[in-house]
Amino acid sequence: MSLRDQYLLDPSVTFLNHGSFGAPPRVVFDEYQYWQREFERQPVLFVRRAEGLLDHAREILGRYLNVPADEVIYLTNATHAVNVLARSLALRPGDEVLTTNLEYGACDRTWEYELAKRGVTYRKQPIRLPATTPEAMVDDLWRGVTPSTKVIYLSHITSGTALTLPVEVICARARADGIFTVIDGAHVPGHLPLDLAAIGADVYTGNLHKWLSAPRGSAFLHVRPEHHVWVEGTIVSWGWVEESTYRRAEVSELVNRNQWQGTRDIAPFLAVPAAIAFQDAHDWPVQQEQCHRLAVRALDEIVERWGGEPLSPVPDPGGFPWFRQMVACPLPPVDAPLLKRRMYDEFLVEAPVTVFEDRAFLRLSFQAYNDERDLARALEALAALLPEVRAS
Ligand SMILES: Cc1ncc(COP(=O)(O)O)c(C=O)c1O
Repeated sequence: MSLRDQYLLDPSVTFLNHGSFGAPPRVVFDEYQYWQREFERQPVLFVRRAEGLLDHAREILGRYLNVPADEVIYLTNATHAVNVLARSLALRPGDEVLTTNLEYGACDRTWEYELAKRGVTYRKQPIRLPATTPEAMVDDLWRGVTPSTKVIYLSHITSGTALTLPVEVICARARADGIFTVIDGAHVPGHLPLDLAAIGADVYTGNLHKWLSAPRGSAFLHVRPEHHVWVEGTIVSWGWVEESTYRRAEVSELVNRNQWQGTRDIAPFLAVPAAIAFQDAHDWPVQQEQCHRLAVRALDEIVERWGGEPLSPVPDPGGFPWFRQMVACPLPPVDAPLLKRRMYDEFLVEAPVTVFEDRAFLRLSFQAYNDERDLARALEALAALLPEVRAS
């Protein structure tokens, strides 16, 4: 049964776009507002408590990610985390950062901007789709490795194409080749089981406000301890001063330098434990499986009715999770912005129409508040609109 009544979403909207900005359950949002009110009751006292409160929220997050709490910091979003890395890495003219052609546009911009300043190449290696096997994908990526490749940056789950990339194998192979890895898991916490120790990336960032459904403005950056000394947050504040009251001997350099970033709203971070508890309390693996089945049905029905080639195989139970709760369904040639607009304006269906290599896809996200009625409504909208929004 769907958990719709536990969320704040407008019931008149068929909301199939959890992937873009998430949506916190009511109790998680209440917790977030509780912490905001605590700040307002006595701001000075709250700031005095903030360090301990953040330590606790990091402890719980570290346990959830299977890494020591001292190796993670909270940040506002994955874009911020990618900016931190792109600025901090000691790269020289002629070096290369290897990525794929499947990355999120804003983060591509970050790398392109930061690397151009230093004469470093941002190389986008094409990954051939439809995906066939994780091994073939890794081989595709390695075609872009050169003696100058110093860093591999890629998404764990891609944005527009909604595909899982085999990051565990990539990180192991990169380590063997002496290449540094930065993994963008914006879509992963709360979506795929996430064990950062097993993945073994040098740096991993994830959004907590997407699939974990924590309040907006909550993300994390995990950095392996040997790299803590050179990671420069975009904010240099009290913790960077040797003799600061904001520095503590018992926490890592990463935490000392980055936990305090000036006055800001830390309520989204403090509500993360409530988001983890919400999923624990609601049989999350069962919810996820129901959502996955809806995603598989969506893909099957759209391909059966309108043709087109899926971007990956349908995952086998226990096999590689090419997609779970979010799937990019191929569409016939359409005017993508027009289709998206008319789906919302005429049917109140919220779902992005993405474009990859000149092909359009309806990216459907299924969260615990969705059920088969939402899928039926999206199909109804498509059936009505597709004949009218063909690409000219
Ligand atoms: C793969 C990927 N990386 C990064 C981001 C950026 O997330 P945020 O806007 O929360 O920084 C997104 C957003 O959808 C994404 O899909």
